[in-house]
Amino acid sequence: MWRNMMMKKLVMKIAMFVCVVTLLLMARVGAASGSHIQAIFTFGDSIMDAGNNHFIKNCSAQADFPPYGSSYFHKPTGRFTNGRTVPDFISQFLRITIQKPFLQVQLEAANDTNGAYPSNGINFASAGSGMLLETNEDWGVIPIQDQLKYFEALVKRNKLDEKLIRRSLFLLESGSNDVFNYFSPFYSPKPDPSIYVQAMLSEAARLIAQLYGLGARRIAIFGLGPVGCIPARALLPVAPLNRCFGRMNKMVKDYNLGLEALVTALPHHYPGIVGVFGDVYRTTQRVRASPATYRFVNVTHACCGDGALGGTVQCGKEGYKMCSNPSDFMFWDYFHPTEHTYKLISKGLWAGGRASIRPLNLKTLANLTLSDH
Ligand SMILES: *[C@@H]1O[C@H](CO)[C@@H](O)[C@H](O)[C@H]1NC(C)=O
Ligand SMILES: *[C@@H]1O[C@H](CO)[C@@H](O)[C@H](O)[C@H]1NC(C)=O
Ligand SMILES: *[C@@H]1O[C@H](CO)[C@@H](O)[C@H](O)[C@H]1NC(C)=O
Ligand SMILES: *[C@@H]1O[C@H](CO)[C@@H](O)[C@H](O)[C@H]1NC(C)=O
Repeated sequence: MWRNMMMKKLVMKIAMFVCVVTLLLMARVGAASGSHIQAIFTFGDSIMDAGNNHFIKNCSAQADFPPYGSSYFHKPTGRFTNGRTVPDFISQFLRITIQKPFLQVQLEAANDTNGAYPSNGINFASAGSGMLLETNEDWGVIPIQDQLKYFEALVKRNKLDEKLIRRSLFLLESGSNDVFNYFSPFYSPKPDPSIYVQAMLSEAARLIAQLYGLGARRIAIFGLGPVGCIPARALLPVAPLNRCFGRMNKMVKDYNLGLEALVTALPHHYPGIVGVFGDVYRTTQRVRASPATYRFVNVTHACCGDGALGGTVQCGKEGYKMCSNPSDFMFWDYFHPTEHTYKLISKGLWAGGRASIRPLNLKTLANLTLSDH
């Protein structure tokens, strides 16, 4: 029995080694020039949104009012936190300028006589959206499928240089809103959880195929954090308050497993692609298990909001309260982490080991020279 396990471990280690070596052979490690990434294109939900929803007049998922943005930008930017989000940190680690939201870029390009699009990438993410087309569609959010259509339109109209796309990092993160909505009393009839998760994963697979077809070669897919632990679970009659919502986290874990399996299989389907899976769940749970190590005081309640867990009133809305030191808190508002949390997650994605991101971290990914086809 024990020998069997040791054998299994050994075989897995060898398989892993072969995998990494193959990746490295496929993509020669770059010269001392450092990063080969000039731009980032981001797709997803509020974890990634840099302010797109602000430009949609009738969209009800907004964070374009105080005190959002107060710790870093010192004004609301439409980001659903007190400062920077994951794509912002990764841009800074790469030493490229933070990307603007697509809808702002589009307005500016319409004004610009050259019609130029930014060379540092674009953020297409829209808060409230999910992997499933119908998730929060009545809020006026941009479904991730439409986010990709916007990107596709720019590629087809030759607004983005083909070489730039080859040298870009693609970030994809979505699914928290689908999972949360599944447990809402307003969502019915409910399909079996495994069928629901499978539908989300089918969309993910389709989106990756579409990105590859449009030239994307370095793709980072981020798993979901423990959605069952967010203060907003206080809005759900079925969720416990004194602990994380187990059934919700189970759905998250199933989705994350499926997502990682997709990423692992990518090189077999798409020659020349390098895909990585960011294990945001594990990183977040590590922090929650020893808050003091990471200088957190409070990992349960929202810094800004009101009601049970600070999770039933949105930050900035009537009756909200705000804590005196946001970086003491894991959660900024009912649904979202603070900048402090995003920074820890981003550091793990950038330079972390296999517990944070696999099979390569973003720093290593950025340093690979890929062939130009
Ligand atoms: C990139 O790779 C080169 C050559 O192996 C190395 O000298 C350099 O330090 C690496 N840069 C980063 C950012 O890892
Ligand atoms: C476009 O140009 C008009 C007129 O010069 C200006 O008022 C507006 O702010 C510009 N919009 C953007 C998004 O740059
Ligand atoms: C928001 O406005 C756009 C454009 O007028 C319209 O197409 C869309 O259906 C509206 N969405 C909602 C949720 O009202
Ligand atoms: C977290 O903050 C909330 C609201 O300020 C407070 O009620 C709760 O006791 C805090 N928890 C800890 C562990 O400090």
